[in-house]
Amino acid sequence: MQHQPLRHPRKLRVVTIGGGISAMNLAYEVMHGYDEEAGNLEDIELGGTWVVNRYPGVACDVPAHIYTFPFEPNPNWTAFYASGPEIQAYFTRTVAKYNLARDVKLSHEIVHAQFDTHQGIWNLKVSHKGRVFDDWCNVLVSATGFLSHWKWPDIPGLHDFAGVKVHSAAWDEEWDYSGKKVAVVGNGSSAIQIMPEVARSAARVVNFIRSPTWITPGLGSALIGGEVNRVYSEEEKRRFREEPGELNRHRKEIQHGSNKAFDLFVKDSSAQKAAFESTSQTMLSRLGGNTSLASKLTPTWEVGCRRATPGPGYLEAFTSPHVSLTTSPITRITPSGILTSDGTHHAVDAIICATGFDVSHRPPFPFLGLDNTDLRDYWNDEPLGYLSVACPYFPNLFFYSGPNAPVGHGSLMAALSWTTRYISLWLRKIASEDILFVVPTPEATEEFNTYGDEIMERFVWSGGCRSWYKNGRVDGRITAVWQGSAIGFKEVVGQLRPEDFRIVWRTANRWRWMGDGRTRVEREEGADLAWYLKK
Ligand SMILES: Cc1cc2nc3c(=O)[nH]c(=O)nc-3n(C[C@H](O)[C@H](O)[C@H](O)COP(=O)(O)OP(=O)(O)OC[C@H]3O[C@@H](n4cnc5c(N)ncnc54)[C@H](O)[C@@H]3O)c2cc1C
Ligand SMILES: NC(=O)c1ccc[n+]([C@@H]2O[C@H](COP(=O)([O-])OP(=O)(O)OC[C@H]3O[C@@H](n4cnc5c(N)ncnc54)[C@H](OP(=O)(O)O)[C@@H]3O)[C@@H](O)[C@H]2O)c1
Repeated sequence: MQHQPLRHPRKLRVVTIGGGISAMNLAYEVMHGYDEEAGNLEDIELGGTWVVNRYPGVACDVPAHIYTFPFEPNPNWTAFYASGPEIQAYFTRTVAKYNLARDVKLSHEIVHAQFDTHQGIWNLKVSHKGRVFDDWCNVLVSATGFLSHWKWPDIPGLHDFAGVKVHSAAWDEEWDYSGKKVAVVGNGSSAIQIMPEVARSAARVVNFIRSPTWITPGLGSALIGGEVNRVYSEEEKRRFREEPGELNRHRKEIQHGSNKAFDLFVKDSSAQKAAFESTSQTMLSRLGGNTSLASKLTPTWEVGCRRATPGPGYLEAFTSPHVSLTTSPITRITPSGILTSDGTHHAVDAIICATGFDVSHRPPFPFLGLDNTDLRDYWNDEPLGYLSVACPYFPNLFFYSGPNAPVGHGSLMAALSWTTRYISLWLRKIASEDILFVVPTPEATEEFNTYGDEIMERFVWSGGCRSWYKNGRVDGRITAVWQGSAIGFKEVVGQLRPEDFRIVWRTANRWRWMGDGRTRVEREEGADLAWYLKK
């Protein structure tokens, strides 16, 4: 018999890989929502996305007041949409305020992970300053981000280019592009933010695009009269500081609007049809009525099929004589420029590759679960995860924004907090019910994905565009986006479904967590032992 109270939790060692907003969400939960667990985070540099992406114009195109940790509303956002540096400053402040870096090990990269079925632990190899050492944990949390592994595009000759070559996610802040002839490859959200900034001082800018992107009004912009952005007055910020109810009202108004706007993502909905019509019109007008440019820059597929972007100044930039658009496919890159299939050689001093990330979800290191299954192989063809938070054959492993996460509409912040809650429910259960490991079953995962793919047919993400939501394909499964609304995700991950899991206990009798049959509260001096009589 266990001589301890019923549900007496054991200490778990938890390692989180990553130091972005996901990892800090868990740090907050572990440090401030718990007494029992030990937290331990590994990262390269705190801030993740907002440390790495330093290109000119980097900004959050969802309203700042909903791109905010739920536990730390910020009355002082300077504007409706915040810049990358302002987000990073807020992040750093929050980490300091709650001491969230307490267990963080900077510049520690996980390079190998292997699950030990007998001990129910992950054995890790960690690289730090050229030295690789061993570590371990009971539960591993992958918070490595879904847009954190940037890659060069696969264009012949790219590495023979003799001029400056930069990627949006590895920006060289020392580089001065003023007076230069610059090529910008791509028109995803990064390129769209970079273009107008570079066009301000470059001598010439040519944007090479393969497919068009919807340039829409910003999320929530109706609340600021359709303006591109709006600076909060000192008076507004003072009111937000002094009257938390006002701040909450403003945040709720934005969040409600964001959730309401989900109708847009339903194919053939009236919201979709209206957005298609009105955005086509506004794009044409922002292009100064240039129908030739509009025909190249306006998509034919549904709004939102690939990520729509407000892109203040992007379309307008093409009305300047020194900015041009090329839709002829790139054939190769030469030492002095870019050759397109129409036979034109575009001589440039620099090439900006705003060409995106490795979104395969495959880890870049050996990640070995049950029966030595390597996650790199398991997710080689399709990343099939369980509700974006777990994966069969990989016990005691949880993900933030794994495959099919709610990354396709609105701010990610709320969804990250729901994921935190979900992970924390498992941590409590594992710790207090004498569990060795938990792992979703292949059957539950397969059925989830089969049904999810069916639901997906109704949503615009499955339209005929190429996008990173489909891992860079035109056709094929949606690998990145959750099969429904953000609120739907909250509902699904709001509670555990142990029926979808294989649970292995630490001893032969799964009831040992009953301890000596009495609860902890019964041992507390002066405790109310009739608290359950409410009336
Ligand atoms: C330019 C840009 C703008 C964006 N704007 C928005 C927006 O407006 N709204 C929105 O909702 N989302 C936006 N996103 C998505 C954004 O990535 C998420 O909102 C969020 O920042 C993701 O946070 P994260 O902590 O999950 O991942 P990340 O911020 O990507 O952090 C991942 C962390 O994991 C670490 N890591 C990775 N591998 C290892 C390893 N092997 N060992 C140790 N550490 C490792 C990295 O160093 C990094 O610290 C944007 C993304 C980009 C690229
Ligand atoms: N909120 C924000 O303000 C913000 C800002 C930046 C990024 N983000 C997030 O980050 C995501 C990724 O954005 P991103 O712009 O970095 O990447 P992305 O959306 O994947 O766009 C990459 C662009 O590069 C092009 N491209 C890729 N490989 C190419 C090749 N070999 N030859 C020619 N063109 C090539 C793509 O063309 P195709 O169109 O033909 O594929 C696409 O236009 C966004 O969707 C968003 O979620 C958000």
